[in-house]
Amino acid sequence: MANVIVIGAQWGDEGKGKITDLLSRSADVVVRSQGGVNAGHTVVVQGQTFKLHLIPSGILYPETECIIGSGTVIDPQVLLEEIDALEALNVSTSNLKISQTAHVTMPYHRLIDKASEERRGKYKIGTTGRGIGPTYADKSERTGIRIIDLMQPETLREKLEWTISYKNVILDKLYNLSPLDPEQVIGEYLQYAERLKPYVIDSSLKIFEAVQKRKNILFEGAQGTLLDLDHGTYPYVTSSNPIAGGACVGSGVGPTIIDRVIGVAKAYTTRVGEGPFPTELHDETGDLLGDRGAEFGTTTGRRRRCGWFDALIGRYAVRINGLDCLAVTKLDVLDELKEIKVCVAYDIDGRICHDFPSSSLEFARCQPVYRTVPGWQRSTSDCRSLEDLPPQALDYLKLLAELMEVPISIVSIGASRDQTIIVEDPIHGPKRALLDSNGTPVTTHELHNKDQVK
Ligand code: IMP
Ligand code: MG
Repeated sequence: MANVIVIGAQWGDEGKGKITDLLSRSADVVVRSQGGVNAGHTVVVQGQTFKLHLIPSGILYPETECIIGSGTVIDPQVLLEEIDALEALNVSTSNLKISQTAHVTMPYHRLIDKASEERRGKYKIGTTGRGIGPTYADKSERTGIRIIDLMQPETLREKLEWTISYKNVILDKLYNLSPLDPEQVIGEYLQYAERLKPYVIDSSLKIFEAVQKRKNILFEGAQGTLLDLDHGTYPYVTSSNPIAGGACVGSGVGPTIIDRVIGVAKAYTTRVGEGPFPTELHDETGDLLGDRGAEFGTTTGRRRRCGWFDALIGRYAVRINGLDCLAVTKLDVLDELKEIKVCVAYDIDGRICHDFPSSSLEFARCQPVYRTVPGWQRSTSDCRSLEDLPPQALDYLKLLAELMEVPISIVSIGASRDQTIIVEDPIHGPKRALLDSNGTPVTTHELHNKDQVK
């Protein structure tokens, strides 16, 4: 049995949806532990595209239990729309469970998120506008509404009457917005509560019971390492902890139950929203990555900023998350390029630096130092083993693994489930390099056999 955390090793959108979907087939339980409807996962199954925001990708497997954990923030309206959309596609949500201690995004959170971004002007963060920051802020301020409050109409009424009168002052005096009608909000949320009731549980207990039964638990990260509130590129971060440690906090489990931490990184880098991005490309190569990679946000539709792979970010993700191995996604997006660059160091005012700086002021001044390698100019999307890959593509992967000092277990070369090369069983495989000391690729085998993985 294995309990595995899957996290994003960059700024989110690394393709975690596809990797967790792939690993979900050997999981009994899939848990989301942080974030909210700011996340967007796109999963393609048999040509059908599923766009998920809050519901774990494991929902596409009928036997898999999916838990939205206590560290998440839940916008009931969006969650119910997502449930309805899945049901309309004949995907059952009967195995979905929601933590009663998760916090609830309210209309004033969405309004304040958008209005405060506007007020920030040039200091804006570029949030998704989904009310995520204000919901977490209320959690810290201890004025938040939790799912359990929704289940108790009298408590909800009492709390919301007070909170809305307080938020109305902010909406009116600070942002010049119309006040909210408490009765309308209470009525709306009581309706959501009715529909959500069957899903609500004590999630930490449920997960603990699964641990005791030695079930396989997959902790599905949202966003990415550099969007972490504590360890990301503050202040251009989200308001939760997408790093591996956050999975324990946001699910209510101890770190001793975790067997493996798998990072997911794109073969290049993208970022949505504001903030420094040393390897960003403002030229036609950047446009090519964006076009070939279909780099538009799942949640906001915004075009993602694109750039070369940054090995310092990769090394940092290995450190902060304790990565056991890495899944490299979207390698095929690089197929047409004649040359590929990898950032191997930063130049900070003439000083060469090999470690990701924790100071955001320093990070903003980092100039990338590149190593240039030849491209392969051949399609990789039909490759199904390392041996199928062009030698330059294999060398590129080997370089990333060497620079990051982490083995690569999975390589993705397209959106569909079968466009995947399993280099090494990411859950039980030994921690070893992509290539052995003779430079020979390590054996490939597919994850198709469920028992093999368990
Ligand atoms: P928020 O999470 O909406 O507050 O946005 C804060 C920052 O995190 C912004 O730069 C967003 O673009 C970014 N962000 C939040 N969620 C995601 C995601 O799922 N993928 C990529 N970026 C995200
Ligand atoms: Mg996404």
